[in-house]
Amino acid sequence: MRKLFLILLLLLAVGLTACGGGDADDSSASTSGGDAQRGEELFTSPTIGPASAPGCITCHSLEPDTVIVGPSQFGLADRAATRVSGMSAEQYIRQSITEPDAYVVEGFAAGVMYQNYGNELSAKDITDLVAYTLSLHNQ
Ligand code: HEC
Repeated sequence: MRKLFLILLLLLAVGLTACGGGDADDSSASTSGGDAQRGEELFTSPTIGPASAPGCITCHSLEPDTVIVGPSQFGLADRAATRVSGMSAEQYIRQSITEPDAYVVEGFAAGVMYQNYGNELSAKDITDLVAYTLSLHNQ
């Protein structure tokens, strides 16, 4: 009986791996399945969402070591996985957008980043923003 269960588990795992293989022509290869190009458009818009909230680019530069209001997003994908132990880069970035004060970057104050993206942006908007920011590497 136990053996049968293990075999079933194994079959399930193989099935899941096969499905997760993804689309070979997707050169952007984001882990979140979001549309990084659309995410870039959202990130660089002056306002975002139904309430015309301030866009990310009004506070976050994409140039190294350039602080507008928040930290530069240059190389974000490379440091995001090391910010909070146990959180992947994707989980950390998603949390930073929906709950900005859950982790406050050293040298910056809580409550400064716009707090309502989690309520105002669609799930797709957030997933696309995550896909884009996951492409921001150190070089
Ligand atoms: C009003 C200014 C402001 C806006 C607009 C803003 N942020 Fe922020 N953001 C901040 C500040 C300040 C911090 C640092 C404090 C903190 O961690 O909350 C921050 C931190 C972050 C971090 C963590 C960065 C790191 O190095 O760990 C991410 C990711 C982030 N913001 C993404 C976004 C995205 C995506 C948007 C647009 C949807 C956005 N922010 C809009 C001010 C802003």
